[in-house]
Amino acid sequence: MNGVFSEHFTIGGAVNSSTVLGSRELIVKHFGSLTAENEMKPMVIHPRMGSWIPYGADEIANLAREHGMGMRGHTLVWHQQTPGWFFSSMGAQASPEVLLERLEDHFTRMQDRYGDVVYAWDVVNEAISDAPGEFLRPSPYLEILGEDYIEEAFRLAKRIMPDAKLYYNDYSVLDPAKQDKIYTLLSGLLEKGVPIDGIGFQGHWNIYFPDSRTLERGIQRFAALGLDVQITELDVSVYRHEDRATRLKEPTPEILELQADRYREIFQTLVNNSQYVSNVTFWGVADDKTWLDNFPVSGRKNWPLLFAEDHSPKPAYYAVVEAAGGNP
Ligand code: GLA
Repeated sequence: MNGVFSEHFTIGGAVNSSTVLGSRELIVKHFGSLTAENEMKPMVIHPRMGSWIPYGADEIANLAREHGMGMRGHTLVWHQQTPGWFFSSMGAQASPEVLLERLEDHFTRMQDRYGDVVYAWDVVNEAISDAPGEFLRPSPYLEILGEDYIEEAFRLAKRIMPDAKLYYNDYSVLDPAKQDKIYTLLSGLLEKGVPIDGIGFQGHWNIYFPDSRTLERGIQRFAALGLDVQITELDVSVYRHEDRATRLKEPTPEILELQADRYREIFQTLVNNSQYVSNVTFWGVADDKTWLDNFPVSGRKNWPLLFAEDHSPKPAYYAVVEAAGGNP
């Protein structure tokens, strides 16, 4: 699949220790870029002060190296999956100096170990609040470093990872209110000369959303700021966002067709705007392993990707390839 889109953008996938084993063939065949689903997050790689557990991340980086793929580094500064010790010192809240030192140490280790293979970093993930009237999401980073923490994170990343492209990554970027806040944040940072190369639209979408006009407007709005756009965590749930029903035991032919139509529309829009889009990454490989089996309803099976549980291509796969104008 990566080759089919080579004129437009690279195709990536989020993988983990289990899919690297169980879905290796699909990964190597279809992807030109890998993202570690959890293995590069501070909670996994740096769970306790003084401990450093890079084995899962190493495995993924080595797979990328062996097959000439690049990696999206995910993610440096995020309010979730960051261990408590980052934010505390001697039984109290860490000072700004201590937290910045820890970030510098973490960024440096990541660069030393993976700088040869990581071409893009999600420097800050999900900093904008969903709550009406609230701009930045409350987090220990905001509490300790103040509003400038985002700027400081990008400046630090530029100093330590000078050759990587640096992204702000978030979900619901196509929601009008959230998009306005993200736009305000990023345009303000750019005005101040903060080194930010692009925006990641996570792309946790569903068979009813988004339509091509909404997606195109979103892409073009950020591209007009001079930012590169990447779709960083694409999956297309078979449920509407607010739907908590658990009625489906397997996807019906109608649902698979709706999903193929949504994927086709998304990819046609991405291809039509490919001068602004450099990578599209799926959040997973095949429907046998997806985080949506446990979110937002724990234990509810979902089928959001292009390959079925047995790894055979779904109608959505053919629709995506068709959108590139290529042969499967
Ligand atoms: C967010 C994060 C990802 C991942 C997903 C859920 O989108 O950016 O790293 O944790 O949630 O799997």
